[in-house]
Amino acid sequence: MIRSALLNVMTAAARKAARSLNRDFGEVEKLQVSLKGPGNFVTAADRRAEDILRTELMKARPGYGFIGEEGGKDAGTDGSHTWIVDPLDGTTNFLHGIPQFAISIGLQRDDTIVAGLVYNPITDELFTAERGKGAFLNDQRLRVAGRRQLSDAVVACGLPHLGRGNLKHFLDEFSLVQERVAGLRRFGSAALDLAWTAAGRLDIYWERNLSPWDMAAGILLVREAGGFVSDCNGHDAMLPTGDIVAGNEDMHRELLALLKKASKS
Ligand code: IPD
Ligand code: CA
Ligand code: CA
Repeated sequence: MIRSALLNVMTAAARKAARSLNRDFGEVEKLQVSLKGPGNFVTAADRRAEDILRTELMKARPGYGFIGEEGGKDAGTDGSHTWIVDPLDGTTNFLHGIPQFAISIGLQRDDTIVAGLVYNPITDELFTAERGKGAFLNDQRLRVAGRRQLSDAVVACGLPHLGRGNLKHFLDEFSLVQERVAGLRRFGSAALDLAWTAAGRLDIYWERNLSPWDMAAGILLVREAGGFVSDCNGHDAMLPTGDIVAGNEDMHRELLALLKKASKS
């Protein structure tokens, strides 16, 4: 597959940061960790990976803005392009030696996400998309799952944890969803949940209280794979609200209806 110059830049940056994450993952027990907030560890690995991504992306596209989970915001001089980066999505998995984590890089032009990359350094699965050009896993074009019945669906979600999210509301949603679907999963990396939805492994994914860097790249992956993405009210306001529902057209509609029902219970 011939990648565009833009995807080449993003891929090179991700692979360089991944080498650092891989080394640190191998030594996860020796990692220095500091506590950012309840349940939210920021590792030395996290910061190292973000530094690499910031340096590489800024070198290739000087002037673009940069929003990274660890380093805050840099408006840049370009005025219209911004990188939205999570150097390590799935930090808790990483710290526990669970190989379900990823680098996530989204590129926003004005209010539109125009490129996205999600890379799992352990499995070497590289998910990429550019607006209007489709989504890919390595060289293979992606399509969301074709299943139409909730009863056949494998669904991923996020769980409120230590001080984050509304547990009561989640449990209402959970109980309505779980009795209608083939399986419910919680993997712990929003970026990979979205990439796996784009790849048709998951039929639906929904979560609340996310940050832009968790989902910027994944939103484009799902859309470019033919899927539907919205916030939990069906609007295109995932980044401002932090809520997301993704799947094929039917699954997306069905899940939105269940969430609506849960909000009335
Ligand atoms: C987290 C993961 C997780 C989601 C959390 C995120 P982090 O990101 O995406 O799946 O449930 O809300 O904060 O902290 O591992 O980068
Ligand atoms: Ca994250
Ligand atoms: Ca992170």
